[in-house]
Amino acid sequence: MTRIFSGVQPTGHLTLGNYLGAMRRWVAEDQYRADALFCVVDLHALTVDHDPARVRRLTRQAATLLLAAGLDPERCTVFVQSQVDEHARLSYLMECTATDGEMRRMIQYKEKAARERERGGSVRLSLLTYPALMAADILAYGTDEVPVGEDQAQHVELTRALAVRFNQRYGQTFVVPRATLPAVAARVMDLQEPTVKMGKSRARTAGIIYLLDEPEAVRKKVMRAVTDAGSDVVYDREERPGIANLLDVLAACTGRDPRGLAEEYDSYGALKKDTAEAVVEVLRPVRERHAGLAADPSYVDGVLRAGAERARGMARPRVDAAYRAVGLLA
Ligand code: TYM
Repeated sequence: MTRIFSGVQPTGHLTLGNYLGAMRRWVAEDQYRADALFCVVDLHALTVDHDPARVRRLTRQAATLLLAAGLDPERCTVFVQSQVDEHARLSYLMECTATDGEMRRMIQYKEKAARERERGGSVRLSLLTYPALMAADILAYGTDEVPVGEDQAQHVELTRALAVRFNQRYGQTFVVPRATLPAVAARVMDLQEPTVKMGKSRARTAGIIYLLDEPEAVRKKVMRAVTDAGSDVVYDREERPGIANLLDVLAACTGRDPRGLAEEYDSYGALKKDTAEAVVEVLRPVRERHAGLAADPSYVDGVLRAGAERARGMARPRVDAAYRAVGLLA
């Protein structure tokens, strides 16, 4: 059976980008067609300046949102990264497989390191080695497919390279995984800055739709979205990034094609109104189920405990095999 692994970082409140780029497919397809694991990667959240209480809160919230979005713990494994030691154990072997140059070439590293420096902060070493931990997450489970948004494709490519290199040097140990990207909304852009990805850790929040935003807040943010010069509705990501983004979001929410949708609109206002309502309807059940689940944290904790145990059982033999393969007395 196909093995699927993916994850989300608890570095901020989850956004519409996380949902349309990744979570929606986990819920609607991946958990039904494969043996799938979905992980809140809390160790990754420590790679930038962090507040311990906030990380703890956001880890619970992310796990609760995964269940609220529709992941069914009877069908897939939902767990928290730090509760399964194998991730950190294998990450070290990945650091011993990757090179310094490979890590420094990662776009996410360059962007996040620049942001930390701009703020006058220092860059944690773990931000550089972040992709080694991510490779460990994926490779520990013999993963075939990694459903992610476009921004993570480079990390999955590096993971593939590390798997191949490790297998060549030390013998067949890891499955070589591949990224799967959504057909639309692989890169949802910030509504205020449509040339920049909608990201949960951005400081300016006016262009970001959070999964737990109230309907009125969603409407306001979409209606105030920055649009492009001109007034005709065409799908052109280069020349008309603001309108293309709205069309992508509407297409993803309605299961339509963004180009086909463009032909149906002749004003920005009408497009914004329909996009706002489509987003509100997509998020409504998630928000409602989240409220119910958040009222019973012991249920979520139980799911995570069981998930971690199952995940540990799956990862342990392969990580032990990798330790032995490199010459350790595991
Ligand atoms: P993270 O937490 O930034 O995002 C979680 C998922 O959401 C996708 N995504 C988006 N898709 C479309 N448009 C956007 N604006 C947008 N923003 C985020 C991401 O591509 C991702 O699929 N490094 C990962 C977490 C991770 C991971 C892993 C993922 C750690 N280990 C192993 C897969 C497998 C990250 O920071 O995702």
